[in-house]
Amino acid sequence: MVALCAMSAPGIAATPLSYLRSHGAHADPVKTLTWALLVLSIVVVLVITGLVVWGIARSTADQGDVISREGNGLRFVTAGLTLTVIALLGSVVWTMVVLARVGSPPAEPKLTLDINGRQWWWRVRYESDEPGRVFVTANELHIPVGEPVRIKLSSLDVIHSFWVPALAGKTDTVPGQVNTTWIEADAPGVYFGQCAEFCGAQHAHMGLRIVAEPRDKFEAWLREQIAPAAQPNDAVAAAGQETFARRCAACHAVRGTKAGGILGPDLSHLASRATLAAGTIPNTAGHLSAWIADPQHFKPGTRMPAVPLTGSELEQVRAYLATLN
Ligand code: CUA
Repeated sequence: MVALCAMSAPGIAATPLSYLRSHGAHADPVKTLTWALLVLSIVVVLVITGLVVWGIARSTADQGDVISREGNGLRFVTAGLTLTVIALLGSVVWTMVVLARVGSPPAEPKLTLDINGRQWWWRVRYESDEPGRVFVTANELHIPVGEPVRIKLSSLDVIHSFWVPALAGKTDTVPGQVNTTWIEADAPGVYFGQCAEFCGAQHAHMGLRIVAEPRDKFEAWLREQIAPAAQPNDAVAAAGQETFARRCAACHAVRGTKAGGILGPDLSHLASRATLAAGTIPNTAGHLSAWIADPQHFKPGTRMPAVPLTGSELEQVRAYLATLN
């Protein structure tokens, strides 16, 4: 309990996967219920412990048993049963009410995301009735703040679980099936998600970043993401584009170029993302080079092979990827 009280101090803001704080219409009622059940459980434990200690003290003081068939000991049994039934029934009803509330969004979502779990990253497809607004990205997604967003979940390989604790509880991604959930962020900011179902060696490195921002900023981001990838602006990056097409394009796509692989993340706007390898390392020049040179070092078991590149080829590819903002 002391630990819990300490955790509920401001320090929790530094624990991005804490489910004890919520930021939206889906997570709020669940969080309130969680706290209520936690407090209720603690109260029950304290009351029962107190009564047991009191009973023991009384009987050792030779004042007679508290609960006995004689006298009025039975009233403790009646009172205990009544309180138990009230507490349990109350919890069940409250849980049902919360389940009904979070089952569907308060308003029809204007945005639908198709999220596909893969060992060990997230492919994210922005859906739209307008073909020009459909695009694919990976591991980092932006949403408009204060609006419900529908999430369609599927998996390419094994069962994963979509979990962004501040925004919504867990929903599994199951191969051959589409599960639907929704999220809504009531404040701008970055919300962290994590695969919550053990799915293999790199389960722990299957992170997700959700950036919630006002509508106009979100639309600006969307326009940049929809646009074809930037063309190289110098000789090194241009050589990198050639090398990338030869060595990396079997798995990765860069829209508007020859690279059209679908096995790995779409890299059309890689430089706009904050992290690499599904939240494993920051997206800096040094990390990007090191990741390409030896992915297994950072993520043992990752499906990304170490493609043998010379030192200059590696630098060209890195320079090229850095232009994809
Ligand atoms: Cu995917 Cu755990």
